[in-house]
Amino acid sequence: MNQRNTLKINDRGHLEIGGCDAVELAERFGTPLYVFDEAYIRLMMRTYKKALNDCFGGNGIVLYASKAFSCKAVYKIAASEGIGVDVVSGGELYTALSSGFPADKIYMHGNNKTPEELEYAVSEGVGTIVVDSYLEADRLDALCAEKGVKQSVLIRINPGVEAHTHAYVQTATPDSKFGFSIANGTADDITNYVLSKGNLSLKGFHCHIGSQIFEKQSFVLAAEKMMAFIAHIKNSVGFEAETLNIGGGFGIYYTDEDPKLNENDYAQYLKALCDAIKQKSVELGVKAPFIALEPGRSIVGEAGVTLYTAGAIKSIPGLKTYIAVDGGMFDNPRYALYQSKYTVVAAGDMNAPCTQKVTIAGKCCESGDIIAVDVPLPEIKSGDIIAVLSTGAYNYSMASNYNRNFIPQAVLVNDGKADTIIKKQTYEDIVRNDVIPERLG
Ligand code: LLP
Repeated sequence: MNQRNTLKINDRGHLEIGGCDAVELAERFGTPLYVFDEAYIRLMMRTYKKALNDCFGGNGIVLYASKAFSCKAVYKIAASEGIGVDVVSGGELYTALSSGFPADKIYMHGNNKTPEELEYAVSEGVGTIVVDSYLEADRLDALCAEKGVKQSVLIRINPGVEAHTHAYVQTATPDSKFGFSIANGTADDITNYVLSKGNLSLKGFHCHIGSQIFEKQSFVLAAEKMMAFIAHIKNSVGFEAETLNIGGGFGIYYTDEDPKLNENDYAQYLKALCDAIKQKSVELGVKAPFIALEPGRSIVGEAGVTLYTAGAIKSIPGLKTYIAVDGGMFDNPRYALYQSKYTVVAAGDMNAPCTQKVTIAGKCCESGDIIAVDVPLPEIKSGDIIAVLSTGAYNYSMASNYNRNFIPQAVLVNDGKADTIIKKQTYEDIVRNDVIPERLG
């Protein structure tokens, strides 16, 4: 049912993921439940690693962009697959390190890293920090002087490529808060500035053009612009970049509006990038850089399914039918934020014909708390298990305790086995950080 064949309909007509019956998972662990397919995650990590090796002869590193889904288990998987990770906050860094992830294979991002985050990253020996402001260059340089270390850094560059994706997830448009623009010359200025900092060792440049992108040409164009920038910096200031980090952004299948890509298709993105980079390096007379790649969504997105129990069902005659589930925008805010679309299925009756179009609503006190609009489903009764597919990326990682609901637990499935990787929250967790000042009695 999905591109890696890890989702199936079993002979009971139930949805099966990683060899586990979804209805049984719901019974055993309760709902809402995030389910992650380990084999899928590993397969995608291997796909990128192999493609990078095939295309660039191993001269590069795959970094799992852990903002897509961060928890100790996923860093363990990344470590065992021999890839690196990118982190974007002290919290992600702490999670990675506390799972035993090697600090030297961590790249740290963020357009406004706090002094505490920088201190933490440097103290722990984070391999590479991607600098995204003058303030950060100053703080990092001073910190490294104090600690007597020389920190490897990249600079975040905005290559000015507009990819076709939702406006909020585009990151390389001219007015982006991220990076320094090649077009307006600020990329030159920050490069000179970082090069003047005695405690920073500039390794090269980074760019990331956005997320959920399918057009190969957008990635190729960004890589070409970055190579031209590398050549320009070499010729103008004599600094030749060793590393080019081309970010992530490869799209995944959510609904039939999206292409269905297989592993080979993802490898083809790398092949196209590689060809463009090699060609430019010859044409412009710069050495082929060490390549870093940061896929997030495409590694975990289709590996994840969220299971809900249908609750109240409300038909508004002549308008619509709402099926309310026991989750909502607190476990998946993506419809509320981006009007993202999902495929929704009846996990316990996969072969039943779809007879209605319904809107899946959450349980939050807010009209915009919707998971999916007008999705085809068979007849659903309260108590049935509803599965929303492709929820592995940016669902748990953007979950909240809105309305003081619990962030659901997550299980990792593989070969018929299911293990908890993120525990169920409790009411005690909900009030854990609440403090009643004495004067309130
Ligand atoms: N590298 C950098 C610097 C990034 O900012 C991102 C994503 C990635 C890599 C990974 O991109 P991916 O391969 O996952 O597309 N919350 C939004 C997505 C925000 C993406 C932010 N940056 C969503 O739910 O669609």
